Amino acid sequence: MAVYCIRAVNKQSAITGTLWYLSKGRLYALCVTVFIVSFCLVAHVLYMRYLNDSTLCLESYHDDEPINVDTLREKIKLPQTKRRLPQCLIIGVRKGGTRALLEFLNIHSMIQRSTDEIHFFDNERKYNMGLEWYRQQMPYSFADQITVEKSPAYFITEGAPERIRAMNESIRLLLIVREPVTRLISDYSQLAANKAKKDKFIRPFQDLVFREDGTVNTDYRAVRVSMYSLYIKMWLSVFQRDQILIINGDRMIRDPYPEIYKTEQFLGLEHRIGRENFFYNKTKGFYCVRNYTVDKCLNESKGRKHPPIDPEIISKLRQFYAPFNREFYNLVRQDFGWPED
Ligand SMILES: *[C@@H]1O[C@H](CO)[C@@H](O)[C@H](O)[C@H]1NC(C)=O
Ligand SMILES: *[C@@H]1O[C@H](CO)[C@@H](O)[C@H](O)[C@H]1NC(C)=O
Ligand SMILES: *[C@@H]1O[C@H](CO)[C@@H](O)[C@H](O)[C@H]1NC(C)=O
Ligand SMILES: *[C@@H]1O[C@H](CO)[C@@H](O)[C@H](O)[C@H]1NC(C)=O
Repeated sequence: MAVYCIRAVNKQSAITGTLWYLSKGRLYALCVTVFIVSFCLVAHVLYMRYLNDSTLCLESYHDDEPINVDTLREKIKLPQTKRRLPQCLIIGVRKGGTRALLEFLNIHSMIQRSTDEIHFFDNERKYNMGLEWYRQQMPYSFADQITVEKSPAYFITEGAPERIRAMNESIRLLLIVREPVTRLISDYSQLAANKAKKDKFIRPFQDLVFREDGTVNTDYRAVRVSMYSLYIKMWLSVFQRDQILIINGDRMIRDPYPEIYKTEQFLGLEHRIGRENFFYNKTKGFYCVRNYTVDKCLNESKGRKHPPIDPEIISKLRQFYAPFNREFYNLVRQDFGWPED
């Protein structure tokens, strides 16, 4: 570097004659200083997560923002980093808070996450592209970091557990669940919002959720996804119970810290995410994350307000889910205490 600098200066010496006044020693010192300063600047930006103390510099964030440090880090390959298969997957459940969980965990310096849902294990076409293709979709990480990918459809996909086991039988899985009726309403609200965007209508909630004879319509996918006991069976037949951490999504939304603390522990990470990393946005009614470099909230499609649903309908649905919930508690040996009427 020093040699290069001196040569470059020599070349331009005719124009920048003044530089000749600098002794070789001073020139060398100048070059070294410039080198160190630029190195520090680059290191500061890219290795931000390794610096414990940096100045508070808030940056607003939107999921679709074109350039931010995160996306840069995913594209730039630092020495000693490579793309690695995930050692941890967030498998579901849809509308359970998977995006919030992923973004909250990502505050931890030992976590690297895939921003996109890859849908590798639930999509035939993608699965057939092979593990090497999947690995290429992952962010660059250091050997001691944990790569996390989330695709909520894994939870309900038959065959996904076997495929995941074939990749890594000791993988760690995160499942975040919410009270089934709340999840169903949230799922419906999202489907309705998506349809509205395309100027399409969605049938009223009760018409989709109940059959004409008044029974619950288990053919409606959103109803089925909340029947957690049906799906957890296939995971428990492939993985050990202690490989799966089940997070209470309703609690995480109210108070993220304890749930994230448990997750760090489950992943064998040092506790680095503190209460100070979460702040509540009153307008959004939602927790946002903050650390030295970012201050970010989930975008508007998250934490959406639900449509008002008749309490009688809610009660009927709770009764319907009660036996499935109890079976779920027994299977996972964890009682969520969801209301039964
Ligand atoms: C802050 O969080 C972002 C992701 O939300 C992460 O990329 C970044 O490395 C974190 N910075 C520090 C200093 O931990
Ligand atoms: C499989 O997952 C475990 C648990 O996260 C991890 O320690 C291990 O390194 C992974 N194995 C491979 C080959 O990625
Ligand atoms: C809270 O969210 C609102 C609406 O998205 C936004 O305008 C406001 O800046 C946020 N406040 C903070 C402190 O992040
Ligand atoms: C929110 O994020 C989703 C996916 O990440 C994106 O499709 C959508 O356009 C975003 N919405 C807003 C309002 O930014």
